Amino acid sequence: MTGSESQRRAYLAAMGVDLWLPRGEDAAETKDVAPVEIGEGWEPLRDAVAACTRCELAKSRTQTVFGVGNPGADWLLIGEAPGAEEDRRGEPFVGRAGKLLDEMLKAAGQAREQVFIANILKCRPPGNRDPKSDEAAACREYLERQIELIQPRIILAVGRIAAQNLLGSDAPVGRLRGRVHDLDGIPLVVTYHPAYLLRSPSQKQKAWDDLCLALSVLR
Ligand code: URA
Repeated sequence: MTGSESQRRAYLAAMGVDLWLPRGEDAAETKDVAPVEIGEGWEPLRDAVAACTRCELAKSRTQTVFGVGNPGADWLLIGEAPGAEEDRRGEPFVGRAGKLLDEMLKAAGQAREQVFIANILKCRPPGNRDPKSDEAAACREYLERQIELIQPRIILAVGRIAAQNLLGSDAPVGRLRGRVHDLDGIPLVVTYHPAYLLRSPSQKQKAWDDLCLALSVLR
């Protein structure tokens, strides 16, 4: 299958569009991205994510990383994808970057248990490479279902990959942060990824400004 064909199929799968395929080699190859009907509510969604084979990452993951937190949270934080530690533990943001994220949340008066934390991808890209666009597209429906169920009052897009995917933009974080975006009626604020802040601590002030902007939306 060509790259563009597999991308098209992944997009269709993400939209829940069923593909008719001839039997034979092609059918076997596409079995992995065939869309699966997801029932209503959290449990069917969790089950669908746990069993997902919509993209290649299913082959290399230890487990899916669904997301954690309060299902009725005001804050929804969306990062990039699980890293090695998250893939092992099945929970997002548990490494060093996760610790810093927890600190940032605490500074904003939010405990980790109060918010909901998810990622653009539910599976770890090998070697922590950037998510591919077909992987993000294949995973999008899961995130959209989570947003529908949580109905957060604010979404914090954590880092470039999250911001660009959610906003359909290729602008850098520096240009996307500092204002309130709208994601289907939900206010969305962009901030730096804590892994970046660990490398560039001088940017922490700006991340704090972003949290203050998010807090001002909620007031
Ligand atoms: N970085 C992310 O963007 N998400 C995680 O879950 C962990 C690290």
